[in-house]
Amino acid sequence: LKIEKPRGTRDFLPDEAERRRGIEQVMREIAESYGYREVSTPTFEHLTLFTIKSGEDIVKEIYAFKDKSGRELALRPELTAPVMRMFVNECSVMPKPLRFYYFANCFRYENPQKGRYREFWQFGVELIGSDSYLADLEVIVLAYNIMRNLNLDFILNIGHVGLLRKLLEDVDEVRYHRIMRMIDKKDLQGLERYLNSEGLEGYLESINELIRLKGGTEIIDHAREIIPDFDFSHLQNLCKGLEKLQIDYNLDFSIVRGLDYYTGVVFEAFAKKGLGAQNQICGGGSYRLSHLFGGSDVPSTGFAFGFDRIAEICEIEPRAIESILVASTAGMELKALEIAEKLRKLSKRVLTDVMERNLKKQLSFANSIGARFAVIVAEKEFKEGKVILRDLEKGEQVVIRIGDLLKRLNREL
Ligand code: HAM
Repeated sequence: LKIEKPRGTRDFLPDEAERRRGIEQVMREIAESYGYREVSTPTFEHLTLFTIKSGEDIVKEIYAFKDKSGRELALRPELTAPVMRMFVNECSVMPKPLRFYYFANCFRYENPQKGRYREFWQFGVELIGSDSYLADLEVIVLAYNIMRNLNLDFILNIGHVGLLRKLLEDVDEVRYHRIMRMIDKKDLQGLERYLNSEGLEGYLESINELIRLKGGTEIIDHAREIIPDFDFSHLQNLCKGLEKLQIDYNLDFSIVRGLDYYTGVVFEAFAKKGLGAQNQICGGGSYRLSHLFGGSDVPSTGFAFGFDRIAEICEIEPRAIESILVASTAGMELKALEIAEKLRKLSKRVLTDVMERNLKKQLSFANSIGARFAVIVAEKEFKEGKVILRDLEKGEQVVIRIGDLLKRLNREL
């Protein structure tokens, strides 16, 4: 009986795992160059961490379960709430702003398809403690630069949920979130029906006008006509900064984001090709969560990449690492191990036989894994302090002093 992996999960073989590691490395290095430092939180949390803002509805979208003591827990569907919980519990007195990044698996009870999994990885950052446009600017520039460095072909859309919040300020929280969710799903017919049924039809026209606004900074003037008493200065300053730093973006006031905690600037990046329908590769924005978790009301901003989607389309290849097999004739196995230990200083892959195969089979294995060199430890040469170095690519070999082996391989590789 073969046991299959659970629906919506994946296995990663070495080539793919290495490629993913290479992409992760680029993300880490750039985030660190902006002063972000890695944090790590538990894989599961108390369920309330995720329902406190989004309500019980979210439970059907996440892996929620009871442990043996009856505690209600959930596998994390994302990391913003966990990081803010950690911030409130552990770091609220640290000097602000705090710059955190994470790379971790998340779990959502989704309908699996290309680019949409039940276990997936996010690389994200949270910048905690500032509500300045400069904080939004920094995280957007960081996300943009990472995507550029990975040679991704993408578009970046920026919006502001404050506009709809202002427009709907007299609508209660529950209805507000229902409306936002329908806008997020682009379900405009559903929205019209809902507004009519709730006696909110007066909002229909202005919502429709607002979410149709897409383009450059000129749409801010149009939005001002719809919501005259909204303060657009934060958004205008952000746009000025983005232009100064030569970031390519569009304004789009239909972006509301699926998660309920956003309060200000929001943004999303979409891959132009290679992903089909699931082409959103990055989502983020500014939000307030810490007061819900028992802390003071601290403004934050951040984003998360859909790492798997980026890995799917990113064409950078990791540096190939060459392999050397240290083979031995019968009785010379442990000498081979000693030599292999020394060669591992080369930062290459140095393998030895663990199957007690004869020399011929060891060498054919070396060929089958594409090893570049074989070092053959044979009794006769070893007695003279020498081994055979075979170049498996050229099919040539030399007898060489053991003392010269490291230097020689260093030169060759
Ligand atoms: P999110 O938009 O829900 O935001 O997720 C971020 C990214 O994760 C998405 O843009 C998408 O690329 C990827 N993603 C989401 N669900 C799946 C899935 N089932 N399979 C594969 N990839 C997926 C957040 O999670 C926020 N915490 C981002 C944030 C950080 N906002 C502020 N700080």
